[in-house]
Amino acid sequence: MDAASWTPDDAERADLELLLSGAFSPLQGFLDRADTESVRATGRLADGTEWPVPVVLQVPDELAGAPALTLTDPEGAPLARLAITEAWPAGRGRQFVAGPVAALAEPAYGTFRSLHLTPAQVREQLGSGPVLATVAGTPLHCAGIAGLRAAAECLDARTLLLIPTGTSGDEPLVRAVLAAAAELPGAVPVAVALRSPDGSAAHALLGAHVAAAYGATHLLAAAGLPGAPLPVVPPTPAAQPALSDEALNALLDAGAPLPAGFTPAAVERELRRTRRPLTRRGLVVLFTGLSGSGKSTLARGLHDTLLERGDRTTTLLDGDVVRRMLSAGLGFSRADRDLNITRIGYVAAEAARHGGVAICAPIAPYASTRAAVRAMAEAAGDFVLVWVSTPLERCEARDRKGLYARARAGGLPGFTGIDDPYEEPLDADVVIDTSDRPIGDCVAEVVTFLRHGGWLSDQTAVTP
Ligand code: ADX
Repeated sequence: MDAASWTPDDAERADLELLLSGAFSPLQGFLDRADTESVRATGRLADGTEWPVPVVLQVPDELAGAPALTLTDPEGAPLARLAITEAWPAGRGRQFVAGPVAALAEPAYGTFRSLHLTPAQVREQLGSGPVLATVAGTPLHCAGIAGLRAAAECLDARTLLLIPTGTSGDEPLVRAVLAAAAELPGAVPVAVALRSPDGSAAHALLGAHVAAAYGATHLLAAAGLPGAPLPVVPPTPAAQPALSDEALNALLDAGAPLPAGFTPAAVERELRRTRRPLTRRGLVVLFTGLSGSGKSTLARGLHDTLLERGDRTTTLLDGDVVRRMLSAGLGFSRADRDLNITRIGYVAAEAARHGGVAICAPIAPYASTRAAVRAMAEAAGDFVLVWVSTPLERCEARDRKGLYARARAGGLPGFTGIDDPYEEPLDADVVIDTSDRPIGDCVAEVVTFLRHGGWLSDQTAVTP
């Protein structure tokens, strides 16, 4: 009978890849309970071998009793066979399962696959002699490159750059480190599925174990690492980057030049690709407010201003229009509203991913759904929330579509503001009450906010 199959999460799949490649030597599989508890308590396996981090796998209760599992990638392609030797409760319907793993196929999922070399391949490439490794979890700049080069020369060593790629979205780091590697003659860059560094000593030690498995004889690392399986070389004080992350980000946001000699031109190019200047970075502007508050008019006004300026591409996702297209068939139950707004957020985030300005104007009455849109947007670019706070009385007095009158008469149950909730935002970047102001002023206020925030340049519009 075929073994049941299970897709481990990203961190577990990263561990699996390193178990299978031998990078987690001497581990042969996921740890059993005694080893897990011992590692947590003492930083050693039950037999006393130093090992810094528990390497464990959780599966649903119903799979834990099987003799073996086929572990697959997110597309269902088999990666490995796990022979289960022990299972114990992990809580919430899950069990830890231990046992040796055997490869079924080369992992093919994810980017930069050709950089995911095994320790055996890397050792062959490096040959004999000293090897200085570093775990490059952030881009390397001139000072770091010089420090690495000096330490390697001092040891007469080759350089091994281990690039941690345990999570999705690592491509910018890989590109930046590859660009820096061009400045280090003979350096060997390798992508290792080391789950994202958490800054802990245990994680740094795990990097040291992996470096040793890849054939490193020395490790360049900032902190002293008691228990490391190879000698640790500290970087020279001059190897500290000359700019803080905040200062670097501010320069990238402004599209301003970086200080001379801070980073090689090729690294700078990658940094600028990853963190675009604000005037070219994707942006989602979400207008939220009651029906009749003026959201659509404001959103259209902003859209028109951007079209007239011509310096940003823009997409308008107006509430009423979206409901005829993207969300046709949905009603106004909480579930339908959430689905409508999540769809809008998804499309808006895609526009932002491509550097555009997406302007959305649904009522979006629930704070949690607005937060979900913010999260999707910020994964792709930036997010600005505009609360159009025109009070209910004014919206109702306007009643352009006659909907409030119908709702009051009981003909439109579940109407926002009448017998359905509107949760006022606590996280709005701009609050605009359109009651007693010309709409042009209100649009100008939003445009000014975007200029001050850096998303729009100070260019003046072409006057007709
Ligand atoms: S949301 O709640 O899902 O964000 P959305 O902005 O798409 O709402 O649609 C709101 C528009 O639908 C209103 O401007 C109004 O014209 C119309 N509408 C019809 N029924 C309702 C209702 N029960 N509550 C609010 N708006 C409604």
